[in-house]
Amino acid sequence: MVPPVSFESNRSSSFSDRRLNILANHFVTLNNSIDSNIFPSPTASSDSVFAHLLRAPEDPILGVTVAYNKDPSPVKLNLGVGAYRTEEGKPLVLNVVRRVEQQLVNEASRNKEYLPIVGVADFNKLSARLIFGADSPAIQENRVTTVQCLSGTGSLRVGGEFLARHYHQRTIYIPQPTWGNHPKIFTLAGLSVKTYRYYAPRTKGLDFQGLLEDLGSAPSGSVVLLHACAHNPTGVDPTPEQWEHIRQLIRSKALLPFFDSAYQGFASGSLDTDAQPVRTFVADGGELLVAQSYAKNMGLYGERVGALSIVCKSADVASRVESQVKLVVRPMYSNPPIHGASIVAAILRDRNLYNEWTIELKAMADRIINMRQKLFDALRSRGTPGDWSHIIKQIGMFTFTGLNAEQVSFMTKEYHIYMTFDGRISMAGLSSKTVPHLADAIHAAVTRAV
Ligand SMILES: Cc1ncc(COP(=O)(O)O)c(C=O)c1O
Repeated sequence: MVPPVSFESNRSSSFSDRRLNILANHFVTLNNSIDSNIFPSPTASSDSVFAHLLRAPEDPILGVTVAYNKDPSPVKLNLGVGAYRTEEGKPLVLNVVRRVEQQLVNEASRNKEYLPIVGVADFNKLSARLIFGADSPAIQENRVTTVQCLSGTGSLRVGGEFLARHYHQRTIYIPQPTWGNHPKIFTLAGLSVKTYRYYAPRTKGLDFQGLLEDLGSAPSGSVVLLHACAHNPTGVDPTPEQWEHIRQLIRSKALLPFFDSAYQGFASGSLDTDAQPVRTFVADGGELLVAQSYAKNMGLYGERVGALSIVCKSADVASRVESQVKLVVRPMYSNPPIHGASIVAAILRDRNLYNEWTIELKAMADRIINMRQKLFDALRSRGTPGDWSHIIKQIGMFTFTGLNAEQVSFMTKEYHIYMTFDGRISMAGLSSKTVPHLADAIHAAVTRAV
């Protein structure tokens, strides 16, 4: 049970101290380079009070797009960005989203008043049903609290900070590798981040034994971050049987699962199939957290729509948990934005709109699956050395190609193909037209003499 700790008593506890320490460590190299004698006072007009700042490095993922934008080559290809592109290489706004936006604009009764701290009530209710299933006992028993947050990232951040304040174990285990933002989000939320083995480079598949060993030796009560589906960056998901093993281990060790669901529907094309791992954890009656994002599956990237759900043992605990989550949100961004959540709520509420959405979502997922097959066939037809079957076995937006940093550099320099240095490519950024160019580049990178 979550102890009813008040916000005031916690502010003076070790939470804020710990976070200050983390931040201090973060800036320690910077501090070393500051000479306090030349630090200008705010009233001195000659120099900027920020003149001592070092230029921060680009975000490793977003930096790929920055480099791509600077390249004048007509054949350049950006496979770094985690956003869907059409066959023509263009961003996509779903038809159902456009239609709902039009309706919202025409609704005379709509206003732009502040939302409550927890966001749009209907959006929260419908988001919980989407991830847990409409007939989930946890929802029927009011054991779930759902709070609208700023997309997946914001949901993870709010969930992380809630745990740092109120949960007795402050260590979170994240997969190795994982989305690059995870360690930063949880560290700055006040948690201590450790990793568990996830990916086996030799098989380009799951290191299931390593995962079981690492979670098996995690201290009881530790938080475990799990990608609900379409693991980023590897595209490697556990099988249903492996999920069942993982669930049993997590429950037997009283670990606390925190699911990151950024790709529901995007992996298999089915919203229900992709939610299955989360649902099996809810079905066993245990507690858990889920961060949901509508960036990819509804194409609402820039609208920043997501939700944090916390499944509790009882309705009473859930309502106390919600009251404390509100205290995390209020000083962070006060309350969430209204537009994106209104679009999602309208689509989830209406059977026809919902059906239309699932068709468009499946078309995106199918195009990605088709690109996997095309790339695999193109490498095979070139006789590119190596077993490339992982391209069709992996799932979701990304493929972890197995190319090393040197090969990635070569492909960028010689073929103007942009991707992260870990060899991850976004299948959503590929089209039938660009597959041959990528296959040529991979073939050249793999076969060139060094
Ligand atoms: C695994 C994972 N989690 C969370 C996110 C968060 O995305 P957003 O904040 O745009 O919803 C992403 C985005 O790439 C992701 O890949």
